[in-house]
Amino acid sequence: MSDKPSYLGLLNAIAVNEARAHQYLQVWIDKTTDPDVKTVLRTVAWREGEHGMSFAKRVNELGYELRDRDDLNLADRLEVAGSDRSDLEKMEYFGQDRLDEVLGAFDTIFSDHTIDIQTGELLGRYVAEEFDTARLLRCCYEQLKARQGETSTPTSASSGAAAGSSSELASLNDKVDALCRAVEELRQIVCAQSMPTKAS
Ligand SMILES: [Fe+2]
Repeated sequence: MSDKPSYLGLLNAIAVNEARAHQYLQVWIDKTTDPDVKTVLRTVAWREGEHGMSFAKRVNELGYELRDRDDLNLADRLEVAGSDRSDLEKMEYFGQDRLDEVLGAFDTIFSDHTIDIQTGELLGRYVAEEFDTARLLRCCYEQLKARQGETSTPTSASSGAAAGSSSELASLNDKVDALCRAVEELRQIVCAQSMPTKAS
């Protein structure tokens, strides 16, 4: 019988995802010219980087090695993070305006009653910090959205309505894409969480 922890896949998935988020956030920090956005992104980037290292360290402490993955489209994310898109568009691309909605997938983490104390402590802090990050990013997003509202000046009622509907459509598309990406990331984490349990 394998004594491999049932939650090893979960730890691995968090380590890899968080380390990659740290990478693309660094690129975005270097690119943005908005000091408020830079401040928020710095806080989030350090958290993500620390999560990546802490979970990789825990995997190692448990006697295993981190398994890298090549299915997370990091190149696309780095490209968008360093692009000329606005900060608001980037936040929508990365799904940062609605992180709290998808973080609900973490609600069942502790239904695995075999989690050891040290890993449980790490996971508890991680989840609480992710929700705090979601609140920080949501607040930043709403401020950018409000600023955008103040500066938009349509030239006439009809062209304003047309421009509004096409930008609303583009924004909706971005949101759907971002939601799909966030759901996919969480699906991978949840799968990673459940697969070893089935195998053991
Ligand atoms: Fe994260």
